[in-house]
Amino acid sequence: MSPKKIAFFASGSGSNVENIVLYFREKEIAAQFLVLCNNPNAYVLQRADKLGIESIVFDKKALTESGEVLRQLQAFNPDLIVLAGFLWLMPASFVQAFPNRIVNIHPALLPKYGGKGMYGMRVHEAVVANNEKESGITIHYVNEHYDEGAYICQVTCAIAPHDSPEDVAQKVHQLEYAHFPKTIAALLNLAPL
Ligand code: GAR
Repeated sequence: MSPKKIAFFASGSGSNVENIVLYFREKEIAAQFLVLCNNPNAYVLQRADKLGIESIVFDKKALTESGEVLRQLQAFNPDLIVLAGFLWLMPASFVQAFPNRIVNIHPALLPKYGGKGMYGMRVHEAVVANNEKESGITIHYVNEHYDEGAYICQVTCAIAPHDSPEDVAQKVHQLEYAHFPKTIAALLNLAPL
């Protein structure tokens, strides 16, 4: 079997990117990775370097106007595009070019706490402020709108009354690390969902 190709879009730390790459390597699943990042200072770029993965940094024009990122992505020819903490909207041209091949992870139980501006700690702060009893993760296909594509899986975690946003973030990250790699492998027909 030829190696599966996964293109990651990330804007921040990249702990999910690293966890997914290590999962594939531990399981000895042949795969080729590419990291695409809109922030030249993002820690995900250092992680990519350490993991020996090629990375591309781009600006808004290259993503939304010039077609440069789309061309780079088409040249890589990914089996799956994975948004892992990517904070910009995916342009419609990407969604059309890769139908049902772009997935995102959101750190809450959509449709709650989704949409533009809802990312990272902002999500967990809102969840705690609303005294939610549970939160979790949503892995979903990407369409032209923030956090609105069809759901692939949701997993919940309980929130205790005294949990801080940081506590919730930690619980949600554990769910992400446990479920995102397996889900990606399943979408690539490498494991059961
Ligand atoms: C993850 O918790 C992911 O669910 C979230 O950003 C974090 C990235 O962490 N994504 C969003 O909030 C998207 N709306 P990481 O960079 O350490 O993987």
